[in-house]
Amino acid sequence: MIYENAQEAAQYIRSRSDLTPKVAVVLGSGLGAFADTLEDAISIQYKEIPHFALSTVEGHAGRLVLGKANRIPIAVQQGRFHYYEGYSMEQVMFPMRTFGVLGIRTVILTNAAGSLNTEMSPGSLMLISDHLNMMGVNPLRGPNDERFGARFPDMTNVYDRELQEIIVAEADKIAQERLESGADPRLTDFLHRGVYCALSGPTYETPAEIRMYRLLGADAVGMSTVPEAIAARHLGMRVAGISCITNFAAGMTEEAINHEEVMETGARVASVFQELLKRVISRL
Ligand code: HPA
Repeated sequence: MIYENAQEAAQYIRSRSDLTPKVAVVLGSGLGAFADTLEDAISIQYKEIPHFALSTVEGHAGRLVLGKANRIPIAVQQGRFHYYEGYSMEQVMFPMRTFGVLGIRTVILTNAAGSLNTEMSPGSLMLISDHLNMMGVNPLRGPNDERFGARFPDMTNVYDRELQEIIVAEADKIAQERLESGADPRLTDFLHRGVYCALSGPTYETPAEIRMYRLLGADAVGMSTVPEAIAARHLGMRVAGISCITNFAAGMTEEAINHEEVMETGARVASVFQELLKRVISRL
């Protein structure tokens, strides 16, 4: 049934816009403003799209925006479905599957994340090189529909190498331009690369948990992205992931963590984040 549902959702989206999106972008907590910068945009509330769930978290608008970024037609999810909200993994993955049926072959997943790496401060970005799925469940558990993809999908290169190179190259260009315009040199070192560890949430982690995830090789922790990345790879899509580092993870500093801080930091990096996304999209 899920495949037919995705076809229905895709058909509805096609009925609302003549654009044929080439790329899908999922915007994480505090990063939604990118969708407001698109040209010729139309926005569709999730509640209007057949079989889409509703987004309940503050900071997630809950709509799909179709429009152009640097003349490239794209589909942007302003707000996503999280496992901690109580959605099933099928619901969390459903937008990816709809994008797959729509013929979109490239997806850029973004999120807000806590840093486990002392070199990576709040306000910087982390290009996801790989992930640890610590959500306690694999989203593809259950009967497999071959129309989406294989029973045992390969996870060797979840985050596309070529996309990573493009993102690094464009970040370098932004850094170079900032340097030439006399910006604070600290502002030129905004893109890191690392392993994203996905947890189910909704609690933030304990300091002991963060020490454990550090030992396991995590650079950042968050509560999203991995189910969508897995769904997209199952569909054979090219995936890129960018984390906006909004805080040091629990126990890394004396500070407690709260959602307001996460949202504020998202807003603070919005301009460089948006510029990077636009440049990367125009190269796809
Ligand atoms: N932990 C988990 N998820 C997060 C964090 C964090 O520290 N910051 C933003 N999302």
